[in-house]
Amino acid sequence: MAIKLLPFLLLLLLINSPAAGHNITRILEGFPDFSTFNSLLTQSTVANEINRRQTITVLVVDNSAAGALSSLDSDILKRVLAIHVILDYYDKDKIHSLRRKSTFFTTLYQTTGVAENNMGFLNFTRLPDGRLAFGSGVHGAPLSATYVKQVAARPYNISVLQISAAVVPAGIADVPLAPFGPPINVLPEPTVPAPAPSDAESPDADAAAPDADAPAADSPAPAAGSPGPAPAGDSDAPAPSEDDTEDDDMSLAGRVADVGAGFIMMAAAALLL
Ligand SMILES: *[C@@H]1O[C@H](CO)[C@@H](O)[C@H](O)[C@H]1NC(C)=O
Ligand SMILES: *[C@@H]1O[C@H](CO)[C@@H](O)[C@H](O)[C@H]1NC(C)=O
Ligand SMILES: *[C@@H]1O[C@H](CO)[C@@H](O)[C@H](O)[C@H]1NC(C)=O
Repeated sequence: MAIKLLPFLLLLLLINSPAAGHNITRILEGFPDFSTFNSLLTQSTVANEINRRQTITVLVVDNSAAGALSSLDSDILKRVLAIHVILDYYDKDKIHSLRRKSTFFTTLYQTTGVAENNMGFLNFTRLPDGRLAFGSGVHGAPLSATYVKQVAARPYNISVLQISAAVVPAGIADVPLAPFGPPINVLPEPTVPAPAPSDAESPDADAAAPDADAPAADSPAPAAGSPGPAPAGDSDAPAPSEDDTEDDDMSLAGRVADVGAGFIMMAAAALLL
Protein backbone atom coordinates (compact mmCIF):
# COMPACT_ATOMS: atom_id res chain seq x y z
CA MET A 1 0.00 0.00 0.00
CA ALA A 2 2.66 2.49 1.13
CA ILE A 3 5.02 1.26 -1.61
CA LYS A 4 2.35 1.98 -4.25
CA LEU A 5 2.07 5.53 -2.95
CA LEU A 6 5.81 6.16 -3.23
CA PRO A 7 5.99 7.41 -6.86
CA PHE A 8 3.02 9.63 -6.19
CA LEU A 9 4.72 11.12 -3.12
CA LEU A 10 7.96 11.73 -5.02
CA LEU A 11 6.01 13.42 -7.80
CA LEU A 12 4.34 15.66 -5.23
CA LEU A 13 7.79 16.56 -3.88
CA LEU A 14 8.90 17.61 -7.35
CA ILE A 15 5.79 19.72 -7.89
CA ASN A 16 6.34 21.40 -4.54
CA SER A 17 9.92 22.49 -5.23
CA PRO A 18 9.82 26.07 -6.58
CA ALA A 19 11.56 26.39 -9.93
CA ALA A 20 12.32 30.11 -10.13
CA GLY A 21 11.62 31.07 -6.53
CA HIS A 22 9.58 34.18 -7.23
CA ASN A 23 6.43 35.22 -9.07
CA ILE A 24 6.21 38.93 -9.85
CA THR A 25 2.48 38.68 -10.48
CA ARG A 26 1.91 37.29 -7.01
CA ILE A 27 4.26 39.81 -5.38
CA LEU A 28 2.43 42.76 -6.98
CA GLU A 29 -1.02 41.29 -6.23
CA GLY A 30 -0.48 42.43 -2.65
CA PHE A 31 -0.29 46.06 -3.78
CA PRO A 32 -3.47 47.39 -5.48
CA ASP A 33 -1.63 50.63 -6.38
CA PHE A 34 0.31 48.66 -8.97
CA SER A 35 -2.52 46.55 -10.39
CA THR A 36 -2.39 48.24 -13.81
CA PHE A 37 1.35 47.73 -14.15
CA ASN A 38 0.92 44.16 -12.92
CA SER A 39 -1.65 43.31 -15.57
CA LEU A 40 0.52 44.94 -18.25
CA LEU A 41 3.42 42.69 -17.18
CA THR A 42 1.19 39.63 -17.56
CA GLN A 43 -0.40 40.77 -20.82
CA SER A 44 2.99 41.47 -22.42
CA THR A 45 4.47 38.17 -21.08
CA VAL A 46 7.35 40.18 -19.56
CA ALA A 47 6.24 38.68 -16.21
CA ASN A 48 7.34 35.21 -17.40
CA GLU A 49 10.75 36.57 -18.28
CA ILE A 50 11.06 38.21 -14.85
CA ASN A 51 10.16 34.93 -13.13
CA ARG A 52 12.79 33.05 -15.12
CA ARG A 53 15.60 35.37 -13.97
CA GLN A 54 17.43 34.92 -10.70
CA THR A 55 18.87 38.32 -9.79
CA ILE A 56 16.62 41.10 -10.87
CA THR A 57 15.09 44.49 -10.06
CA VAL A 58 11.70 45.52 -11.39
CA LEU A 59 10.87 49.24 -11.58
CA VAL A 60 7.13 49.77 -11.28
CA VAL A 61 4.82 52.77 -11.56
CA ASP A 62 1.52 53.24 -9.77
CA ASN A 63 -1.86 53.10 -11.52
CA SER A 64 -2.00 56.82 -12.28
CA ALA A 65 1.39 56.66 -14.01
CA ALA A 66 0.70 53.32 -15.72
CA GLY A 67 -2.45 54.49 -17.48
CA ALA A 68 -0.45 56.09 -20.30
CA LEU A 69 1.30 52.77 -20.96
CA SER A 70 -2.00 50.99 -21.58
CA SER A 71 -2.44 52.89 -24.84
CA LEU A 72 0.84 51.64 -26.30
CA ASP A 73 0.89 49.18 -29.16
CA SER A 74 1.56 45.69 -27.71
CA ASP A 75 4.98 45.36 -29.36
CA ILE A 76 6.12 48.77 -28.04
CA LEU A 77 4.64 48.02 -24.62
CA LYS A 78 6.69 44.85 -24.34
CA ARG A 79 9.89 46.79 -25.14
CA VAL A 80 9.06 49.57 -22.71
CA LEU A 81 8.33 47.12 -19.88
CA ALA A 82 11.58 45.25 -20.58
CA ILE A 83 13.40 48.57 -20.01
CA HIS A 84 11.97 48.53 -16.48
CA VAL A 85 13.66 45.25 -15.60
CA ILE A 86 17.25 45.71 -14.39
CA LEU A 87 19.42 42.62 -14.66
CA ASP A 88 20.85 42.98 -11.16
CA TYR A 89 19.53 43.19 -7.62
CA TYR A 90 19.09 46.70 -6.20
CA ASP A 91 17.04 47.13 -3.06
CA LYS A 92 16.66 50.46 -1.26
CA ASP A 93 19.91 50.12 0.66
CA LYS A 94 21.93 49.14 -2.36
CA ILE A 95 20.54 51.85 -4.62
CA HIS A 96 21.15 54.50 -1.98
CA SER A 97 24.71 53.37 -1.47
CA LEU A 98 25.77 53.64 -5.12
CA ARG A 99 28.84 55.83 -4.97
CA ARG A 100 29.05 57.16 -8.50
CA LYS A 101 26.96 60.16 -9.48
CA SER A 102 25.74 58.32 -12.60
CA THR A 103 25.48 54.61 -13.28
CA PHE A 104 24.24 52.72 -16.32
CA PHE A 105 21.94 49.78 -15.58
CA THR A 106 21.60 46.98 -18.11
CA THR A 107 17.96 46.05 -18.67
CA LEU A 108 16.09 43.05 -20.00
CA TYR A 109 15.51 44.96 -23.25
CA GLN A 110 19.26 44.90 -23.91
CA THR A 111 19.16 41.07 -24.03
CA THR A 112 16.69 41.09 -26.93
CA GLY A 113 19.47 42.16 -29.29
CA VAL A 114 17.25 44.72 -30.98
CA ALA A 115 17.95 47.63 -28.62
CA GLU A 116 19.61 50.50 -30.46
CA ASN A 117 21.32 53.70 -29.29
CA ASN A 118 21.74 52.52 -25.69
CA MET A 119 17.97 52.07 -25.39
CA GLY A 120 18.60 48.87 -23.45
CA PHE A 121 20.26 50.83 -20.64
CA LEU A 122 18.96 53.07 -17.92
CA ASN A 123 20.83 56.14 -16.76
CA PHE A 124 20.65 56.26 -12.97
CA THR A 125 21.77 59.63 -11.59
CA ARG A 126 21.99 60.88 -8.03
CA LEU A 127 20.87 64.51 -8.16
CA PRO A 128 22.58 67.18 -6.05
CA ASP A 129 19.42 67.52 -3.95
CA GLY A 130 19.58 63.84 -3.04
CA ARG A 131 16.84 62.54 -5.34
CA LEU A 132 17.61 59.39 -7.29
CA ALA A 133 16.65 59.87 -10.93
CA PHE A 134 16.21 57.52 -13.87
CA GLY A 135 16.32 58.21 -17.58
CA SER A 136 16.79 56.32 -20.80
CA GLY A 137 20.40 55.43 -21.62
CA VAL A 138 19.98 57.04 -25.05
CA HIS A 139 22.60 59.77 -25.41
CA GLY A 140 21.15 63.13 -24.40
CA ALA A 141 17.88 61.64 -23.13
CA PRO A 142 16.41 63.53 -20.16
CA LEU A 143 16.02 62.07 -16.72
CA SER A 144 12.31 61.30 -16.57
CA ALA A 145 11.55 59.53 -13.30
CA THR A 146 12.62 59.54 -9.67
CA TYR A 147 12.85 56.80 -7.08
CA VAL A 148 9.80 56.72 -4.81
CA LYS A 149 10.10 53.68 -2.56
CA GLN A 150 10.87 50.03 -2.22
CA VAL A 151 7.78 47.90 -2.77
CA ALA A 152 9.23 44.46 -2.07
CA ALA A 153 12.61 42.80 -1.67
CA ARG A 154 13.75 39.17 -1.59
CA PRO A 155 17.51 39.44 -1.17
CA TYR A 156 19.27 38.80 -3.46
CA ASN A 157 16.79 37.43 -5.99
CA ILE A 158 14.21 40.07 -6.75
CA SER A 159 13.59 43.65 -5.73
CA VAL A 160 10.62 45.81 -6.73
CA LEU A 161 11.11 49.58 -6.64
CA GLN A 162 8.52 52.24 -7.38
CA ILE A 163 9.54 55.11 -9.65
CA SER A 164 7.50 58.23 -10.35
CA ALA A 165 6.88 57.69 -14.07
CA ALA A 166 7.59 55.17 -16.80
CA VAL A 167 10.89 55.62 -18.65
CA VAL A 168 10.05 55.59 -22.36
CA PRO A 169 12.88 56.40 -24.79
CA ALA A 170 11.71 58.87 -27.43
CA GLY A 171 12.90 56.67 -30.31
CA ILE A 172 11.26 53.43 -29.20
CA ALA A 173 8.20 53.90 -31.41
CA ASP A 174 8.07 55.15 -35.00
CA VAL A 175 5.58 57.78 -33.98
CA PRO A 176 6.50 60.40 -31.38
CA LEU A 177 5.03 59.64 -27.97
CA ALA A 178 3.65 62.14 -25.49
CA PRO A 179 5.73 62.58 -22.32
CA PHE A 180 5.02 59.96 -19.67
CA GLY A 181 5.60 62.20 -16.69
CA PRO A 182 6.54 65.72 -15.72
CA PRO A 183 10.16 66.66 -16.49
CA ILE A 184 12.66 66.18 -13.69
CA ASN A 185 14.15 69.54 -12.78
CA VAL A 186 17.84 69.09 -12.22
CA LEU A 187 18.92 71.91 -9.93
CA PRO A 188 22.49 73.07 -10.50
CA GLU A 189 25.13 72.13 -7.92
CA PRO A 190 25.24 74.81 -5.20
CA THR A 191 27.85 77.39 -6.21
CA VAL A 192 28.71 78.40 -2.66
CA PRO A 193 29.73 75.18 -0.96
CA ALA A 194 28.53 75.22 2.63
CA PRO A 195 30.38 72.83 4.96
CA ALA A 196 27.36 70.68 5.83
CA PRO A 197 26.04 69.83 2.30
CA SER A 198 29.53 69.22 0.88
CA ASP A 199 30.14 66.91 3.81
CA ALA A 200 27.00 64.94 2.97
CA GLU A 201 28.02 64.65 -0.70
CA SER A 202 31.52 63.36 -0.07
CA PRO A 203 32.08 59.60 -0.31
CA ASP A 204 33.97 59.68 3.00
CA ALA A 205 30.87 60.89 4.80
CA ASP A 206 28.91 58.01 3.26
CA ALA A 207 31.54 55.56 4.42
CA ALA A 208 31.68 56.91 7.96
CA ALA A 209 27.94 57.09 8.56
CA PRO A 210 26.05 53.80 8.04
CA ASP A 211 23.76 55.42 5.45
CA ALA A 212 23.08 59.12 5.21
CA ASP A 213 19.64 58.48 3.72
CA ALA A 214 18.53 55.71 6.03
CA PRO A 215 16.10 56.33 8.87
CA ALA A 216 18.10 57.21 11.97
CA ALA A 217 16.30 54.62 14.13
CA ASP A 218 19.53 52.72 14.85
CA SER A 219 21.66 55.62 16.03
CA PRO A 220 20.61 57.11 19.37
CA ALA A 221 21.87 60.63 18.50
CA PRO A 222 22.40 61.97 14.98
CA ALA A 223 26.03 62.73 14.16
CA ALA A 224 27.02 66.38 14.04
CA GLY A 225 27.78 66.25 10.32
CA SER A 226 24.65 64.35 9.33
CA PRO A 227 22.41 65.96 6.70
CA GLY A 228 19.06 67.48 7.51
CA PRO A 229 15.68 65.90 6.82
CA ALA A 230 15.47 63.38 4.01
CA PRO A 231 14.24 64.66 0.62
CA ALA A 232 10.46 64.83 0.50
CA GLY A 233 9.92 62.43 -2.41
CA ASP A 234 12.16 59.84 -0.85
CA SER A 235 9.94 57.87 1.48
CA ASP A 236 12.03 54.90 2.44
CA ALA A 237 10.25 53.78 5.56
CA PRO A 238 8.93 50.30 4.86
CA ALA A 239 5.16 50.13 5.03
CA PRO A 240 3.77 47.62 7.54
CA SER A 241 2.12 45.73 4.70
CA GLU A 242 5.57 45.17 3.19
CA ASP A 243 6.69 43.30 6.30
CA ASP A 244 3.46 41.36 6.38
CA THR A 245 4.02 40.21 2.82
CA GLU A 246 7.54 39.08 3.65
CA ASP A 247 6.32 37.22 6.69
CA ASP A 248 3.58 35.53 4.72
CA ASP A 249 6.02 34.42 2.09
CA MET A 250 8.57 33.19 4.60
CA SER A 251 6.00 31.17 6.49
CA LEU A 252 4.68 29.78 3.20
CA ALA A 253 8.20 28.75 2.23
CA GLY A 254 8.61 27.22 5.66
CA ARG A 255 5.37 25.32 5.31
CA VAL A 256 6.40 24.02 1.89
CA ALA A 257 9.72 22.91 3.38
CA ASP A 258 7.93 21.21 6.27
CA VAL A 259 5.57 19.43 3.92
CA GLY A 260 8.56 18.38 1.81
CA ALA A 261 10.38 17.01 4.87
CA GLY A 262 7.23 15.16 5.86
CA PHE A 263 7.07 13.49 2.47
CA ILE A 264 10.72 12.47 2.63
CA MET A 265 10.12 10.83 6.00
CA MET A 266 7.00 9.09 4.69
CA ALA A 267 8.93 7.93 1.64
CA ALA A 268 11.75 6.63 3.85
CA ALA A 269 9.21 4.84 6.03
CA ALA A 270 7.64 3.33 2.93
CA LEU A 271 11.04 2.03 1.78
CA LEU A 272 11.65 0.40 5.18
CA LEU A 273 8.27 -1.38 4.93
C1 LIG B 1 2.08 33.49 -10.53
O1 LIG B 1 1.03 33.95 -9.73
C2 LIG B 1 -0.20 34.13 -10.45
C3 LIG B 1 -1.19 34.79 -9.52
O2 LIG B 1 -1.18 34.22 -8.24
C4 LIG B 1 -0.67 32.80 -11.00
O3 LIG B 1 -1.86 32.99 -11.73
C5 LIG B 1 0.42 32.25 -11.91
O4 LIG B 1 0.04 30.96 -12.36
C6 LIG B 1 1.74 32.14 -11.18
N1 LIG B 1 2.78 31.79 -12.13
C7 LIG B 1 3.61 30.77 -11.92
C8 LIG B 1 4.63 30.52 -12.96
O5 LIG B 1 3.55 30.09 -10.91
C1 LIG C 1 23.05 60.47 -17.34
O1 LIG C 1 22.21 61.59 -17.12
C2 LIG C 1 22.90 62.71 -16.58
C3 LIG C 1 21.85 63.78 -16.30
O2 LIG C 1 21.07 64.04 -17.46
C4 LIG C 1 23.95 63.19 -17.56
O3 LIG C 1 24.66 64.27 -17.01
C5 LIG C 1 24.92 62.04 -17.84
O4 LIG C 1 25.83 62.43 -18.83
C6 LIG C 1 24.15 60.83 -18.31
N1 LIG C 1 25.08 59.73 -18.41
C7 LIG C 1 25.42 59.21 -19.57
C8 LIG C 1 26.47 58.16 -19.52
O5 LIG C 1 24.88 59.54 -20.61
C1 LIG D 1 16.52 32.94 -4.12
O1 LIG D 1 16.68 31.99 -5.18
C2 LIG D 1 17.29 30.80 -4.78
C3 LIG D 1 17.47 29.95 -6.00
O2 LIG D 1 16.28 29.78 -6.70
C4 LIG D 1 16.44 30.11 -3.72
O3 LIG D 1 17.09 28.95 -3.28
C5 LIG D 1 16.23 31.06 -2.54
O4 LIG D 1 15.36 30.47 -1.62
C6 LIG D 1 15.65 32.35 -3.02
N1 LIG D 1 15.56 33.30 -1.90
C7 LIG D 1 14.43 33.94 -1.62
C8 LIG D 1 14.49 34.88 -0.45
O5 LIG D 1 13.39 33.78 -2.27
